[in-house]
Amino acid sequence: MHAREIRKGIHVIASVHWERRLFDSLIPLPDGTSYNAYLVRGSKATALLDSTDPVLRNDLLEALQDVRHVEYIVSQHSEQDHSGTIPDLLDRYPEAKLLCSKKAEDLLTTHLGVAADRIQVVEDGESISLGGKTLQFVYTPWVHWPETMCTYVPEDRCLFSCDFFGSHLATTDLYVTDQARVYEAAKRYYAEIMMPFRAIIQKNLDKIADCPFDIIAPSHGPVYDDPDFILDAYRDWVSPAIKNEVVLPYISMHGSTGRMVKHLIDALAREGVTVHAFDLAVTDIGKLAIALVDAATLIVGTPTVHVGPHPAIYYAAHLANLLRPKLKYAAIVGSYGWSSKAIEQIAGLIPNLKVEVLGTVLHKGVPNANIYAELDELAAAVAKAHNDDESVLTG
Ligand code: FEO
Repeated sequence: MHAREIRKGIHVIASVHWERRLFDSLIPLPDGTSYNAYLVRGSKATALLDSTDPVLRNDLLEALQDVRHVEYIVSQHSEQDHSGTIPDLLDRYPEAKLLCSKKAEDLLTTHLGVAADRIQVVEDGESISLGGKTLQFVYTPWVHWPETMCTYVPEDRCLFSCDFFGSHLATTDLYVTDQARVYEAAKRYYAEIMMPFRAIIQKNLDKIADCPFDIIAPSHGPVYDDPDFILDAYRDWVSPAIKNEVVLPYISMHGSTGRMVKHLIDALAREGVTVHAFDLAVTDIGKLAIALVDAATLIVGTPTVHVGPHPAIYYAAHLANLLRPKLKYAAIVGSYGWSSKAIEQIAGLIPNLKVEVLGTVLHKGVPNANIYAELDELAAAVAKAHNDDESVLTG
């Protein structure tokens, strides 16, 4: 897309990837995405912050066709969706220096083949003047790679944050116009890549609070001209508080596990617990990740396949283990034909989740009244654990 001005001398060039539906061959993108580069022009020098995914390199190169000189290219994050076109830009602008953090130097040379003599490492807190505009670099590691940094331009009170606060959203909106839509897209992104680094994200939030900004300009999705909206959301997501919610990924082959899950959902709802249930045969795994951000309890529902859990449950349990949500409680329910080790195997898949197991209900064949009573007891135990736990917001 053409360059659009967000402050005098500062333009965003958004490469909008309308048709992309999967990121890193892992993360569903139901609403596409965009890759934002930012052109910052001072009186003495011009800088380009980030680039675009190589698939859309021509979009960026065309938008820059009238920009004759770029003195600095800033790589805030080495992943290909932001740095993959940097080699093309270094060819286009042979006078340009590539600015990056110390840790990014290695990643940019090994992953993208950037020549070491084009790189100029900037330290945390270092500033470079463009003439009337200053680039101040703020290291913000682990959002979600170790080398990531933000760039602050104090003259314009703009914070350029790359993935941090980003939302996977293909849109022509320059600024956030639909907060609910951006909230979900940003939460999806946080859940899928940043949630495991919650403690460091909190430190990064504290760190950027030293920069008085009016605008957050991320490298995915629209620009925030009301930064409190996304700052409040992030503070909530990283806070120790959890919600009176159960995430219930399940799958059923012949109906028995499905009946148990349906009964349990109803029993939990009667106990006043909110349930986010996901039939893994059809679910968007990103929605599951979003639900994991706030929930107090994970309950897995599985049939037995060759003694163990269904393979879809392996995937979901492994994903939850990788994402390290705030969960404090867990339970397993399911069915089997003749024998099962599903409970032991699922427990072995989630060592990162420091959860208290509130119960297991595993049944041979079609569920009966006794099993439904056990599920009612499990629902009551979940509600009690939530009510007794001060970190669970039950109001
Ligand atoms: Fe948007 Fe980590 O790349």
